[in-house]
Amino acid sequence: MTQDEMKQAVADAALACIRPKLESNTVLGIGTGSTANLFIDALAGIKGLINATVASSEASAARLKSHGIVVYELNTVDQVDFYIDGADECNAALQLIKGGGAALTREKIMTAVAEEFICIADESKLVHTLGQFPLPVEVIPMARSHVARELVKLGGDPIYREGVVTDNGNVILDVYNFSIPQPLATEEKINNITGVVTNGLFALKPADVLLLGTTDGVQTIYAE
Ligand code: 5RP
Repeated sequence: MTQDEMKQAVADAALACIRPKLESNTVLGIGTGSTANLFIDALAGIKGLINATVASSEASAARLKSHGIVVYELNTVDQVDFYIDGADECNAALQLIKGGGAALTREKIMTAVAEEFICIADESKLVHTLGQFPLPVEVIPMARSHVARELVKLGGDPIYREGVVTDNGNVILDVYNFSIPQPLATEEKINNITGVVTNGLFALKPADVLLLGTTDGVQTIYAE
């Protein structure tokens, strides 16, 4: 199976997983990225079974709308039943690095609201220790240099993601060479730097379940 085939398999598996639980008032949270896009395309086939969606990015909202799927603003819904999204890295505790697509803040808001976070990823994303993928940090533009200096003090090499402005009007620093053996403490430390909006560690609230695409098929993994 190629990586693309694994992504398709987990998108289909996520749909199969939630389908029996869908009700006419179900609101789905939809993530961002190539794997989430495949889920959106699959969802189009059963859009009549749900009430609406809430998207974690303008790009996903546009893709959902192009399929005729209803998209609500998060502030207008009482609940989000499931949030389905990909990841850049995942460990055995289902703690994640996200934000490769610069949507980390809205993605983290979605995970805070959703009843259940279903992560969909191919096997290349599963690692022993987080941090091989550079950790994205969303920053208020005027604080960029200050935050970068603080990230260096924590041991990382922050690089400004040139030309990228997030949906919230902010910038991204990607922290390279930054092994993360203690994701909970690191997530809190970076959040406490003044000027940081969000960091791409999803450890304080990890995924509830991981659907992992492997060459042998899709594995369903719960946190250790
Ligand atoms: C976007 C994300 C994505 O979930 C992450 O980058 C994975 O993307 P893909 O499914 O394309 O591998 O966090 O901000």
